[in-house]
Amino acid sequence: MFNQRIKIKSLLSGEAKGQEVIVMGWVRTFRNNQFIALNDGSTNNNLQVVVELGLLDDAILKRITTGASLKIKGIVVASLGKGQSIEVKANSIEILGDSDAEKYPLQPKKHSLEFLREIAHLRFRTNTFGSVFRIRHSLAFAVHQFFNDKGFVYLHTPIITSSDAEGAGEMFRVTTLPIDGTAKKNEDGSINFKEDFFGKSTNLTVSGQLEGELGAMAFSDIYTFGPTFRAENSNTTRHLAEFWMIEPEMAFHDIEDNMNLAEEFIKYLIQYVMDHNKDDIEFLSQRLAEEEKQLPQDKRSELGLIEKLEFVLKNSFERITYTEAINILLESNHYKKKKFQYEVKWGIDLQSEHERYLVEKHFKKPVIVTGYPAAIKAFYMRMNDDGKTVAAMDILAPGIGEIVGGSQREERLEKLEERMKDMHIPSEEMSWYLDTRRFGSIPHAGFGLGFERMVQFVTGMTNIRDVIAFARTPKNCEF
Ligand code: 4AD
Ligand code: MG
Repeated sequence: MFNQRIKIKSLLSGEAKGQEVIVMGWVRTFRNNQFIALNDGSTNNNLQVVVELGLLDDAILKRITTGASLKIKGIVVASLGKGQSIEVKANSIEILGDSDAEKYPLQPKKHSLEFLREIAHLRFRTNTFGSVFRIRHSLAFAVHQFFNDKGFVYLHTPIITSSDAEGAGEMFRVTTLPIDGTAKKNEDGSINFKEDFFGKSTNLTVSGQLEGELGAMAFSDIYTFGPTFRAENSNTTRHLAEFWMIEPEMAFHDIEDNMNLAEEFIKYLIQYVMDHNKDDIEFLSQRLAEEEKQLPQDKRSELGLIEKLEFVLKNSFERITYTEAINILLESNHYKKKKFQYEVKWGIDLQSEHERYLVEKHFKKPVIVTGYPAAIKAFYMRMNDDGKTVAAMDILAPGIGEIVGGSQREERLEKLEERMKDMHIPSEEMSWYLDTRRFGSIPHAGFGLGFERMVQFVTGMTNIRDVIAFARTPKNCEF
């Protein structure tokens, strides 16, 4: 029976001295034919297992190699070595799975993140990825806890859809039609999607928001938490083609309520990880400090990871309008010295260099920007009284840039229809969406938090490919 085993995390934190235990895990190192560092993924802290001379045959000793899996029965004793208070003195060792030391790609030394990305199927077994993915788990759990405590309904919105929620056209098509040119065509030469599986053109969702709004119109408060897909050809450290997004949608909320909830939510997630993943955060904080030692002084972060998270918890996010943001940029020395690559003027979409300047150089804390020009934002955002800007809000975080995008929604049917017409959104296909504005429309708002960007922020990992198990990016879909 396997279930009698105790996990290393509970063993190390418990009072098991003197007891016989069964532990299982993978060998990290084996020193002097005597000391096994065993890890089972429950914590980065390895269990030291002591093999007394003469306990095992040479043939078995040789099979205790890095990466091999073991079942060990032994007595918990006080440890004389440094770094641990207890260890296990083995009574018996069974090899569950051999690992050829010559071929095992993970050697007991430091590997680069680039190399580990290529062996993403094994990288969970490293300390860095152990910490990152335990924290990712905690964050996911905390998301549900936060909304559940507030009485939100978790709504599973569809993954295959026929609408483009963001109207940006960055969708992956879903079809069962042949791609060899034999698919039936209409008279005008276009593909006849009536022949397709769903009888219409469909794609993977870019956002669950529109369906989420339908839920909010009945339950008051809902949230989605699922995979979203974007066929944008962005090869950056912050973009994935498949990423997870959390999208709450609240009835009877305006843009200010929306900002308040988003700020509270982000702080809750950080606090949860600080409370539940102390060891992992400390490990990653040290890792980041080591990594930054390689950088020139002016490229290093002013705060360590833990100090950064504590700082964010203690301070309110800065709140400014888009117009104020543009003015800050225009008045900066950075601008005057022509250090921005992209143009700065009212009406531009803020580029990541602009966002980073505002957050990292000017305010040095998370910033919520509101009131963006209508022309650069999605059709569903509520028009402000100036007729030029919309009630949008983006939250920008140090080292990440945009982490949240949200808005108050246009609840006025005529204004919404007008906006859809201007933006060439076919309103006939969206009548289900417009119905919410026809029958008991109400002020409502919501936002989307990019889950991987949140994991990046909390773990300090600089590349988004290192916070999702198997990254999907342009020209890359391994595993
Ligand atoms: O700003 P976005 O596009 O907003 C929406 O999708 C809205 N429907 C949200 C809503 O109001 N319910 O995306 C929201 C967030 C971004 O702020 C960013 O954190 C993340 O999703 N995101 C990405 N993360 C990783 N890779 C990408 N390609 C991303 N695109 C957006
Ligand atoms: Mg956005």
